[in-house]
Amino acid sequence: MGNVSELIKYRSSTRSYMKKPIDEEKKNEMTEYLSSNVKGPFGNTVRFELVDLAEMKPRDARTLGTYGFIKGASLFIVGAVKSERKAMEDFGYCMEKNILHATSLGLGTCWLGGTFRRSNFAKMINLMENEVLPAITPIGYPTKKRSLRDSVIRFSAGSKKRKKWQSLFFTKDMKKPLSRENAGKYAPLLESVRLGPSASNRQPWRIVREPGKFHFYCSSTKTYNKLFKGIRLQNIDMGIAMCHFELSADELGLAGKWVEIKPKFDFRGKEYIVSWAESI
Ligand SMILES: Cc1cc2nc3c(=O)[nH]c(=O)nc-3n(C[C@H](O)[C@H](O)[C@H](O)COP(=O)(O)O)c2cc1C
Repeated sequence: MGNVSELIKYRSSTRSYMKKPIDEEKKNEMTEYLSSNVKGPFGNTVRFELVDLAEMKPRDARTLGTYGFIKGASLFIVGAVKSERKAMEDFGYCMEKNILHATSLGLGTCWLGGTFRRSNFAKMINLMENEVLPAITPIGYPTKKRSLRDSVIRFSAGSKKRKKWQSLFFTKDMKKPLSRENAGKYAPLLESVRLGPSASNRQPWRIVREPGKFHFYCSSTKTYNKLFKGIRLQNIDMGIAMCHFELSADELGLAGKWVEIKPKFDFRGKEYIVSWAESI
């Protein structure tokens, strides 16, 4: 996939696209990637399809489908997952892999969990009764300059900003933040989590380090995380964090695995998601 931490640093949401269709070769490569990327770390199966609005609908559907939030794109990655335990995390994990893969092909993307017509896209991929369609992303060539609307959205979501290390990463007693120095060789993995995209840029990831383990928690905003029936955007964010952490670990040759071992301590009532245990 190329240098993952560089891709993570480089990626940002693209909301204005050139009309130019994607090269056939890149499109095929993306399709192939989608069909191989079907299992999340919790074992849920996801499915992704490449949907071309230009083929399905009149021209104006291109903007209608995303309420005008996205300009110029007609190709979308649309995904579905069965409504099971940890389905949101698995979906987030797999979809973020798609996003990074598209980034490595020089394509722009933008996670969309709210500002798109879910029912239209559901029809296009024949969504089944027990499935949900958590999010989509357009893919295409970014325009040289961001559109005004894109700049306004980015500004209001504070998209460039990220929380500081001390607000996201903690040592076991939770009173002390985990500094970059103390994170040592694991610092780049945490930095990759910190730079990730999240719904409305709320960055709900919190990580507590114990010797040999990193515990992942979700600091969700109750009302926000339940905006869409059956879909929890901030649990999707947690899957994105897992994706970035794991890919960066692989890149640096740091072995470990995902385990569910809820620690005995309570982390200020936050939702426990998963832990990453270093292999010795
Ligand atoms: C799960 C999820 C859902 C999102 N939904 C939307 C959306 O509906 N509309 C939109 O314009 N951006 C959406 N975003 C993009 C975020 O606003 C964006 O990732 C964040 O502001 C950080 O900016 P960046 O991606 O440019 O780094 C979503 C992101 C995630 C992870």
